[in-house]
Amino acid sequence: MAPGGLLLAHMLAEELSLEVGAKVLDLGCGRGQSSVFLATRYQAQVTSLDLWISAEERSHRAAEAGVGPRVTALQGDVRRGLPIATGSFDAIFCMQAFHCFGAQPWVVTYLASLLKPGGKIGIAQGCFREEPDRLPDLFADTGGWHAEYNKYHSTDWWRRHLSASDKLDAVTAREVPDGDILWEDDILYRCRRADWRPDYLAQCAWLVRHVLHGQLSAPSLTHCIVLATRNNRVGG
Ligand SMILES: C[S@@+](CC[C@H](N)C(=O)[O-])C[C@H]1O[C@@H](n2cnc3c(N)ncnc32)[C@H](O)[C@@H]1O
Repeated sequence: MAPGGLLLAHMLAEELSLEVGAKVLDLGCGRGQSSVFLATRYQAQVTSLDLWISAEERSHRAAEAGVGPRVTALQGDVRRGLPIATGSFDAIFCMQAFHCFGAQPWVVTYLASLLKPGGKIGIAQGCFREEPDRLPDLFADTGGWHAEYNKYHSTDWWRRHLSASDKLDAVTAREVPDGDILWEDDILYRCRRADWRPDYLAQCAWLVRHVLHGQLSAPSLTHCIVLATRNNRVGG
């Protein structure tokens, strides 16, 4: 999983106050570990959507985990629309993915329309503590990883972005306590998986530089959780 892993997934799911059997869209779910987590821990009926990772891989993973009947896997770009009726979901769960596609206001409005009135959208992801005017050059080196820092914003930017939708109310946004540590933990996780091979440590240097940068100067990498509730206003 991306930085934060199951810890961040747990924090987001708890903030969404998921009820047993809730209908949840796991948006930008990657390899689908979070879909299995939601189906297992909350017995959620999960629609698991990702662009890069095939639906077959995720269905297989869910079946292996014994939650196949509770996970419907789809592959595609959320911006092209989903074969799903408006007002379908109790919650949209989006971890480490919203920045990839969510910065345009119409995407927020579309996603809000998929929620039942009172349903919640929750976003948990890497962000900058300060809204950057211009990214320092060192963030251009991402070691070949699809980091997309140019799409990162501050916690408050995301709060204002979701608040601008007339379909969403009660928008809250907070920085995850010690959210920078989730980045450090990601470095340790990657290195452990690579058995601390020196060549791999060298390959990770770019991420170490990004995390260290934030210890001394802005912008600094951290994580945020943003929540909003679908209102009852007509027209959606
Ligand atoms: C950094 S990964 C995070 C995956 C997973 N949520 C996690 O936390 O490990 C971002 C994911 O967003 C997905 N994604 C990017 N753009 C998307 C889009 N337009 N529609 C659906 N998924 C998208 C990618 O396929 C990728 O798997």
